[in-house]
Amino acid sequence: MRRIVLATRNGHKVRELQTILADLIDELDLEIVGLGEFPDLPDVVETGVTFAQNATLKAVAAAEATGLPALADDSGLAVNVLGGSPGVFSARWAGTHGQDRANLEVLLGQITDVPDEQRSAAFVCVAALALPGGTVVLRRGQMPGTLAREPRGDNGFGYDPILVVDGDTRTAAELTFEEKNAISHRGKAFRSLSADLRELLARS
Ligand code: IMP
Repeated sequence: MRRIVLATRNGHKVRELQTILADLIDELDLEIVGLGEFPDLPDVVETGVTFAQNATLKAVAAAEATGLPALADDSGLAVNVLGGSPGVFSARWAGTHGQDRANLEVLLGQITDVPDEQRSAAFVCVAALALPGGTVVLRRGQMPGTLAREPRGDNGFGYDPILVVDGDTRTAAELTFEEKNAISHRGKAFRSLSADLRELLARS
């Protein structure tokens, strides 16, 4: 069995990635562990101003500290009429980190007067794979949609209740876990990265 570390202390994210990469995990006999297995490692400060920079910072730090191939991601909501904001600042848009409801209310307030046809947005994810030798591969995934005027749905987290998914009438918070994984920005980015993982692990 080969260990890969996912650069997060969030057990929910580790389980989510185990689901997304289930086929590859079986095929290559992988074990995906989170940073919870390495309690002494310091947290990485996300000083990047793009998803790619932050995903790279997290993956490289985890690979260097653990000596294992490391995966990381950075994600957020990009609203077209706001020039891609909140972007890397999605988690703290209302001022403090991780206040999901306050974040989406601030955002809805900012675009109250924006007509329906101008309310396009997308969840964006950059997934990074870093090998202890220094190789880094980045893959990007998007989940496009339109911003609703009121939150709807109880599943998911973050801005899920206000993104009406393209090709559907439901918000991301009205999809099941499996439905969201199948089309999510994170699902797409990590499924794309799994081809790189397969190739690089075969070589190293
Ligand atoms: P991170 O990649 O966990 O740092 O996510 C940054 C922030 O982006 C989260 O706190 C959410 O506000 C937002 N975000 C990222 N992915 C999603 C998603 O799938 N649904 C809703 N919000 C998301």
